[in-house]
Amino acid sequence: MNNRVAIVTGSTKGIGRAIAYKLAQNGNTVIVTGRDTLLGEEVVSEIRNKGGEAHFFRVDLSILTEVESFCHAILNQFDRLDILVNNAGISGHMGPIISTPLSQLSSVFRVNVESIFLMCQKLIPLMEKGNHGRIINISSIAYRLNPANSGTYNMSKAALNALTQTLAKEIGPLGITVNAIAPGLILTERIQNERLPGLAQKAGISIQDMQLELTKGTSTRQLTTPEDIASMVTFLSSLEAGSITGEIINISAGV
Ligand SMILES: NC(=O)c1ccc[n+]([C@@H]2O[C@H](COP(=O)([O-])OP(=O)(O)OC[C@H]3O[C@@H](n4cnc5c(N)ncnc54)[C@H](OP(=O)(O)O)[C@@H]3O)[C@@H](O)[C@H]2O)c1
Repeated sequence: MNNRVAIVTGSTKGIGRAIAYKLAQNGNTVIVTGRDTLLGEEVVSEIRNKGGEAHFFRVDLSILTEVESFCHAILNQFDRLDILVNNAGISGHMGPIISTPLSQLSSVFRVNVESIFLMCQKLIPLMEKGNHGRIINISSIAYRLNPANSGTYNMSKAALNALTQTLAKEIGPLGITVNAIAPGLILTERIQNERLPGLAQKAGISIQDMQLELTKGTSTRQLTTPEDIASMVTFLSSLEAGSITGEIINISAGV
């Protein structure tokens, strides 16, 4: 299919950026979103320099009125929407549930669940116009491992999976599939610069040794990359994946 339009939320960096690059490489016009305009414009330039088409829209998903304005802008400026990748997500508060303020649960849910709920409500009619659509939500294996001290995140990803599977049943007849990808640990800049050093310090080992430990915990002895996630998004958004819907697909090197 030609001239397809794809939205990738949180594509200024990390997994979202890899998804944006891959979808653009495959001929889709990509709408890059995030809060950092400088980084967003860099992603757009990179795509255009390689002969692709992209546009940046600044939107803070923690502010639901901004999500609504973004959707209105899309409805006004584009006459089709083929792919919606709800990738942006935050880890939020780290700590035991017993001492987590309720406000922290709300802020994680606002970005990881409510903004996606709203985005789907507002943009599905545009997909419906074309009798075709692919919605891909980026979840996490946290929904099934439920690690301690990230309760708000774990809960938000479980809710996102429920949204995915319910929506799949409701809008399947419109020609729209809805799936979620649940990644394991992915070596993004954020994980490399923030998470690994923290884990290494806690375990009293070097960052390299920490990475080795995490690798040993996988079945493949390899950590998953942002490009692995982008490849699955490409497949799920293809015509060949038309009968795959309501699935939560783990991409975690066997973790
Ligand atoms: N990395 C992992 O190991 C891993 C594992 C499992 C699941 N995931 C999931 O994968 C997704 C992407 O994660 P990542 O590791 O690539 O994250 P990341 O490197 O921190 O990037 C997050 C992206 O989301 C955007 N974003 C964050 N808060 C936002 C907000 N309030 N409004 C609008 N955009 C916002 C950021 O853009 P700006 O900074 O420009 O706003 C950025 O583009 C998330 O849903 C995450 O839960 C990641």
